[in-house]
Amino acid sequence: MSKFKKTLLGSISALLLTGMVGVATQAVASDERFYGRFTQDNELYTPRDYRGWIFIGSSVTPNELNDGAAAFPEFHNVYIDPGSYNHWKRTGEFRSGTVIVKELASVGATAAPSGNGYFQGDFGGIAAMVKNEKRYPDNPGNWAYFGFSADSNHGAIQDEAACSACHQQNAAEDQVFTQFYPVLRAAKPGE
Ligand code: HEC
Repeated sequence: MSKFKKTLLGSISALLLTGMVGVATQAVASDERFYGRFTQDNELYTPRDYRGWIFIGSSVTPNELNDGAAAFPEFHNVYIDPGSYNHWKRTGEFRSGTVIVKELASVGATAAPSGNGYFQGDFGGIAAMVKNEKRYPDNPGNWAYFGFSADSNHGAIQDEAACSACHQQNAAEDQVFTQFYPVLRAAKPGE
């Protein structure tokens, strides 16, 4: 084979290799795509498709166990965006860009063919927390907390005392109550 041909072949295989690496990098990137959409004031547009995200758990604090007056007597159905879940599975960390949505569902029936208990009734509102280094550089852990109302298409950032303070103090990992989410604990590398 001529020297020229050899060089040409070498260049082609180098090009092919570069192409393959490019494809592999893209696959990881799309696996971890970002889900939060933000207003110019860094407030989160009301998430719409979260019921198709990764469902990580559902806690319920019923009135019966709280002197008849629980602060939130509903179920809390919690979802994490798929890109951040994939990142968590790889690294065991909540990446900048994580969106976690908590949706309330009322306690409906308290008896079913399976036994007495708490069964979900109807959906109530949602709340969310978002970690983002660039948007919330001064917030502890770069987390912002959002409340939503039906008459707005985006959430309103909540005061630290209203949300973050309790999460900072009591949540097991980076302000997220992983102690109540076996789905996350099981997916964490090395656990
Ligand atoms: C007094 C403590 C406390 C306060 C205040 C509080 N939370 Fe939480 N939050 C919890 C606990 C405990 C859980 C997990 C168990 C549950 O859902 O009941 C939770 C769960 C969540 C979750 C699901 C992810 C996670 O970290 O477990 C979101 C999202 C959330 N809260 C948002 C908010 C927002 C928004 C506010 C303010 C409007 C708020 N929280 C105020 C204690 C608190």
